[in-house]
Amino acid sequence: MSNLILASILSADFARLGADVSNVLAAGADGIHFDVMDNHFVPNLTIGPDVCRSLRKYGIDAIVDVHLMTKPVANLIDMFADAGASAITFHVEAVPDVRQAIAHIKSVGCKAGLSINPDTDVSRIVEFLPDLDSVLVMSVNPGFGGQQFMPAAYEKVMALHKIIQERGLACRITIDGGVNQNNIAQLAGCGVDDFVLGSALFGAADYNKCVAELRSALS
Ligand code: DX5
Ligand code: ZN
Repeated sequence: MSNLILASILSADFARLGADVSNVLAAGADGIHFDVMDNHFVPNLTIGPDVCRSLRKYGIDAIVDVHLMTKPVANLIDMFADAGASAITFHVEAVPDVRQAIAHIKSVGCKAGLSINPDTDVSRIVEFLPDLDSVLVMSVNPGFGGQQFMPAAYEKVMALHKIIQERGLACRITIDGGVNQNNIAQLAGCGVDDFVLGSALFGAADYNKCVAELRSALS
């Protein structure tokens, strides 16, 4: 599968969310990244399963990649699967039994992702890579859109890429936080498969032009 560009709707216009999401998908984004924050695991508070369901009802049929920045996660896995999520990612820092949470996500028919914070070492997640569809490397501290990319993520991505290659695993690497037209090519070179973009995409005056620039940087 080629590189996916996932639009983080955290930076979308919530007052006209359906239209804004339609526009960004029409411009060529491959799917949407749905940031769920609980004012507990992270300081911010965002959106829940009913908004996901509403977007499906509105006609959004692209990938909906749910990023749970919550603690706990179990009930939300069921609720988001029911609301139409395609993939559900949770944080290794947020659950006592990572393997159980991965199995739970798969049991409800969604792709399973595991995320790590900037302060968390790659060694925390290596044992789970064979069971995962994707690993989400945070290149900002989760909680807010529009933050600056933390370059320490490059090394993390390279370390994960090496392990995934050496072991012949299917797990994809996704990067989230501060991704833009200027760093996307270098990230791809380090082994990132899929890219989450919030402010760089929704903040662009012309979504078509922005996605075209991202694709050309990737080619
Ligand atoms: C941060 C979220 C990200 C964020 C990305 O906590 O997980 O998905 O919305 O936004 P930008 O691309 O603006 O850093
Ligand atoms: Zn996210």
